[in-house]
Amino acid sequence: MATRINPSILAADFANFESELGRIRSADLVHVDIMDNHFVPNLTFGLGMVQRLQQVSPLPLDIHLMIDDPERWAPGYAEAGAYSVTFHAEATTEPVALARKLREIGARAGLALKPGTDVTPYLDLLPEFDQVLVMTVEPGFGGQRFMHETMPKLAQLRTTVQNSGLDVWLQVDGGITAQTIEIAAAAGADTFVAGSSVFGAENPAAQIALLRQSAAS
Ligand code: DX5
Ligand code: ZN
Repeated sequence: MATRINPSILAADFANFESELGRIRSADLVHVDIMDNHFVPNLTFGLGMVQRLQQVSPLPLDIHLMIDDPERWAPGYAEAGAYSVTFHAEATTEPVALARKLREIGARAGLALKPGTDVTPYLDLLPEFDQVLVMTVEPGFGGQRFMHETMPKLAQLRTTVQNSGLDVWLQVDGGITAQTIEIAAAAGADTFVAGSSVFGAENPAAQIALLRQSAAS
Protein backbone atom coordinates (compact mmCIF):
# COMPACT_ATOMS: atom_id res chain seq x y z
CA MET A 1 0.00 0.00 0.00
CA ALA A 2 1.40 3.39 -0.99
CA THR A 3 1.93 5.92 1.78
CA ARG A 4 1.13 9.55 1.13
CA ILE A 5 2.21 12.43 3.36
CA ASN A 6 0.22 15.64 2.91
CA PRO A 7 1.53 18.57 4.99
CA SER A 8 -1.16 21.06 6.00
CA ILE A 9 -0.29 24.68 5.28
CA LEU A 10 -2.53 25.69 8.19
CA ALA A 11 0.70 25.37 10.18
CA ALA A 12 2.85 27.25 7.63
CA ASP A 13 3.88 30.90 7.70
CA PHE A 14 0.82 32.67 6.22
CA ALA A 15 2.98 35.54 4.97
CA ASN A 16 5.25 33.24 2.96
CA PHE A 17 3.29 30.40 1.42
CA GLU A 18 5.43 30.20 -1.70
CA SER A 19 8.67 29.64 0.19
CA GLU A 20 6.93 27.35 2.68
CA LEU A 21 5.86 25.14 -0.23
CA GLY A 22 9.52 24.89 -1.17
CA ARG A 23 10.27 23.30 2.21
CA ILE A 24 7.93 20.35 1.62
CA ARG A 25 8.87 19.27 -1.90
CA SER A 26 9.44 15.69 -0.75
CA ALA A 27 5.77 15.39 0.32
CA ASP A 28 3.02 13.98 -1.90
CA LEU A 29 0.30 16.62 -1.85
CA VAL A 30 -0.28 19.95 -0.11
CA HIS A 31 -3.26 19.90 2.25
CA VAL A 32 -5.21 23.16 2.22
CA ASP A 33 -7.75 23.76 5.00
CA ILE A 34 -10.68 25.97 4.04
CA MET A 35 -12.73 27.15 7.06
CA ASP A 36 -15.75 29.45 7.02
CA ASN A 37 -16.42 30.23 10.71
CA HIS A 38 -19.80 28.51 10.33
CA PHE A 39 -19.11 24.83 9.88
CA VAL A 40 -16.14 25.24 12.21
CA PRO A 41 -15.38 28.08 14.64
CA ASN A 42 -12.39 29.35 12.69
CA LEU A 43 -11.68 31.16 9.44
CA THR A 44 -8.83 30.65 6.99
CA PHE A 45 -8.84 31.48 3.29
CA GLY A 46 -10.91 30.80 0.21
CA LEU A 47 -11.01 30.23 -3.50
CA GLY A 48 -8.91 33.23 -4.52
CA MET A 49 -6.03 32.02 -2.37
CA VAL A 50 -6.30 28.51 -3.76
CA GLN A 51 -6.31 29.75 -7.35
CA ARG A 52 -3.00 31.48 -6.64
CA LEU A 53 -1.53 28.52 -4.73
CA GLN A 54 -2.40 26.34 -7.69
CA GLN A 55 -0.15 28.55 -9.84
CA VAL A 56 2.88 28.42 -7.56
CA SER A 57 2.70 25.00 -5.89
CA PRO A 58 5.10 22.32 -7.14
CA LEU A 59 2.81 19.70 -5.54
CA PRO A 60 -0.85 18.96 -6.27
CA LEU A 61 -3.41 20.50 -3.91
CA ASP A 62 -5.57 18.44 -1.54
CA ILE A 63 -8.43 20.74 -0.55
CA HIS A 64 -10.26 20.11 2.76
CA LEU A 65 -13.49 22.10 2.87
CA MET A 66 -14.66 22.72 6.43
CA ILE A 67 -17.56 24.83 5.23
CA ASP A 68 -21.34 24.90 5.08
CA ASP A 69 -23.00 24.80 1.70
CA PRO A 70 -20.27 22.83 -0.11
CA GLU A 71 -22.57 22.54 -3.16
CA ARG A 72 -22.01 26.21 -3.75
CA TRP A 73 -18.24 26.28 -3.35
CA ALA A 74 -16.66 22.87 -3.95
CA PRO A 75 -16.96 22.86 -7.76
CA GLY A 76 -14.97 26.10 -7.95
CA TYR A 77 -11.99 24.45 -6.26
CA ALA A 78 -12.13 21.59 -8.75
CA GLU A 79 -12.32 24.09 -11.60
CA ALA A 80 -9.28 25.87 -10.15
CA GLY A 81 -7.34 22.66 -10.78
CA ALA A 82 -7.22 21.12 -7.30
CA TYR A 83 -6.19 17.48 -7.41
CA SER A 84 -8.68 16.48 -4.74
CA VAL A 85 -11.62 18.25 -3.13
CA THR A 86 -12.96 16.86 0.15
CA PHE A 87 -16.19 18.08 1.72
CA HIS A 88 -17.81 17.12 5.02
CA ALA A 89 -20.61 14.56 5.19
CA GLU A 90 -22.21 16.61 7.97
CA ALA A 91 -22.49 19.67 5.71
CA THR A 92 -24.60 18.16 2.91
CA THR A 93 -27.64 15.99 2.29
CA GLU A 94 -26.54 15.17 -1.27
CA PRO A 95 -23.00 13.78 -1.01
CA VAL A 96 -23.27 11.57 -4.09
CA ALA A 97 -24.47 14.35 -6.39
CA LEU A 98 -21.63 16.58 -5.26
CA ALA A 99 -19.01 13.83 -5.60
CA ARG A 100 -20.20 13.15 -9.16
CA LYS A 101 -19.97 16.84 -9.98
CA LEU A 102 -16.39 17.04 -8.67
CA ARG A 103 -15.33 13.96 -10.65
CA GLU A 104 -17.00 15.33 -13.76
CA ILE A 105 -14.88 18.47 -13.47
CA GLY A 106 -11.78 16.30 -13.09
CA ALA A 107 -10.95 16.33 -9.37
CA ARG A 108 -10.78 13.41 -6.99
CA ALA A 109 -13.83 13.48 -4.72
CA GLY A 110 -13.36 13.15 -0.97
CA LEU A 111 -15.78 12.64 1.92
CA ALA A 112 -14.73 13.85 5.39
CA LEU A 113 -16.17 12.64 8.69
CA LYS A 114 -15.94 14.45 12.02
CA PRO A 115 -14.80 12.30 14.97
CA GLY A 116 -18.36 11.75 16.21
CA THR A 117 -19.84 10.82 12.81
CA ASP A 118 -20.62 7.16 12.22
CA VAL A 119 -19.27 5.85 8.92
CA THR A 120 -21.79 3.00 8.55
CA PRO A 121 -24.39 4.98 6.54
CA TYR A 122 -21.68 6.00 4.07
CA LEU A 123 -20.08 2.64 3.38
CA ASP A 124 -22.42 1.92 0.46
CA LEU A 125 -21.40 5.23 -1.13
CA LEU A 126 -17.69 4.41 -1.32
CA PRO A 127 -17.69 3.69 -5.09
CA GLU A 128 -18.66 7.35 -5.58
CA PHE A 129 -15.52 8.60 -3.80
CA ASP A 130 -11.78 8.56 -4.37
CA GLN A 131 -10.87 9.21 -0.76
CA VAL A 132 -12.39 9.33 2.72
CA LEU A 133 -10.97 11.62 5.38
CA VAL A 134 -11.36 10.39 8.95
CA MET A 135 -10.86 13.40 11.22
CA THR A 136 -8.68 12.43 14.16
CA VAL A 137 -9.36 15.75 15.94
CA GLU A 138 -12.40 18.03 16.00
CA PRO A 139 -12.00 20.11 12.83
CA GLY A 140 -11.14 23.78 13.21
CA PHE A 141 -7.64 24.07 14.61
CA GLY A 142 -4.16 22.66 14.18
CA GLY A 143 -2.02 21.40 17.03
CA GLN A 144 -4.64 19.27 18.77
CA ARG A 145 -4.24 15.83 20.32
CA PHE A 146 -4.89 12.72 18.19
CA MET A 147 -8.16 10.98 19.12
CA HIS A 148 -7.50 7.25 19.37
CA GLU A 149 -11.22 6.53 19.58
CA THR A 150 -11.57 7.28 15.84
CA MET A 151 -9.47 4.26 14.88
CA PRO A 152 -12.29 1.66 14.79
CA LYS A 153 -13.96 3.78 12.08
CA LEU A 154 -10.81 3.59 10.01
CA ALA A 155 -10.58 -0.15 10.45
CA GLN A 156 -14.21 -0.45 9.33
CA LEU A 157 -13.41 1.55 6.20
CA ARG A 158 -10.28 -0.46 5.44
CA THR A 159 -12.19 -3.74 5.69
CA THR A 160 -14.91 -2.44 3.35
CA VAL A 161 -12.41 -1.08 0.84
CA GLN A 162 -10.47 -4.33 0.87
CA ASN A 163 -13.54 -6.54 0.52
CA SER A 164 -14.95 -4.48 -2.32
CA GLY A 165 -11.68 -4.17 -4.22
CA LEU A 166 -12.15 -0.39 -4.49
CA ASP A 167 -9.23 2.00 -4.80
CA VAL A 168 -10.27 4.56 -2.18
CA TRP A 169 -7.55 6.39 -0.26
CA LEU A 170 -8.11 6.49 3.49
CA GLN A 171 -6.87 9.71 4.98
CA VAL A 172 -6.38 10.81 8.59
CA ASP A 173 -6.08 14.43 9.67
CA GLY A 174 -5.23 15.88 13.07
CA GLY A 175 -2.54 15.23 15.64
CA ILE A 176 -0.40 13.13 13.29
CA THR A 177 3.15 12.70 14.60
CA ALA A 178 5.85 10.06 14.18
CA GLN A 179 4.11 8.16 17.00
CA THR A 180 0.43 8.47 16.08
CA ILE A 181 1.09 7.81 12.38
CA GLU A 182 2.05 4.23 13.27
CA ILE A 183 -1.29 3.73 15.01
CA ALA A 184 -3.27 5.22 12.12
CA ALA A 185 -1.34 3.18 9.55
CA ALA A 186 -1.96 -0.01 11.54
CA ALA A 187 -5.69 0.81 11.59
CA GLY A 188 -5.70 1.10 7.79
CA ALA A 189 -4.86 4.69 6.80
CA ASP A 190 -2.67 5.26 3.75
CA THR A 191 -2.77 9.07 3.46
CA PHE A 192 -1.61 11.26 6.32
CA VAL A 193 -2.18 14.96 6.85
CA ALA A 194 0.32 16.58 9.19
CA GLY A 195 0.42 20.27 10.00
CA SER A 196 2.34 21.25 13.10
CA SER A 197 4.56 18.16 13.13
CA VAL A 198 5.93 19.06 9.65
CA PHE A 199 6.01 22.87 9.66
CA GLY A 200 6.97 23.00 13.33
CA ALA A 201 10.04 20.86 12.62
CA GLU A 202 13.39 22.51 12.08
CA ASN A 203 13.85 20.37 9.00
CA PRO A 204 10.47 19.60 7.38
CA ALA A 205 12.05 17.29 4.78
CA ALA A 206 13.59 15.15 7.51
CA GLN A 207 10.26 15.09 9.34
CA ILE A 208 8.44 14.00 6.17
CA ALA A 209 10.98 11.18 5.78
CA LEU A 210 10.50 10.17 9.41
CA LEU A 211 6.72 10.14 9.05
CA ARG A 212 6.99 8.02 5.90
CA GLN A 213 9.27 5.57 7.64
CA SER A 214 7.06 5.39 10.75
CA ALA A 215 3.93 4.77 8.66
CA ALA A 216 5.65 1.86 6.94
CA SER A 217 7.01 0.25 10.09
C1 DX5 B 1 -7.85 20.75 11.43
C2 DX5 B 1 -7.32 20.66 10.02
C3 DX5 B 1 -6.02 19.96 9.92
C4 DX5 B 1 -4.90 20.63 10.65
C5 DX5 B 1 -4.03 19.55 11.21
O1 DX5 B 1 -9.17 21.14 11.40
O2 DX5 B 1 -8.24 19.97 9.19
O3 DX5 B 1 -5.67 19.72 8.57
O4 DX5 B 1 -4.13 21.46 9.84
O5 DX5 B 1 -3.08 20.13 12.04
P1 DX5 B 1 -2.15 19.27 13.02
O6 DX5 B 1 -1.38 18.30 12.19
O7 DX5 B 1 -1.32 20.29 13.67
O8 DX5 B 1 -3.08 18.55 13.98
ZN1 ZN C 1 -7.53 19.34 7.18
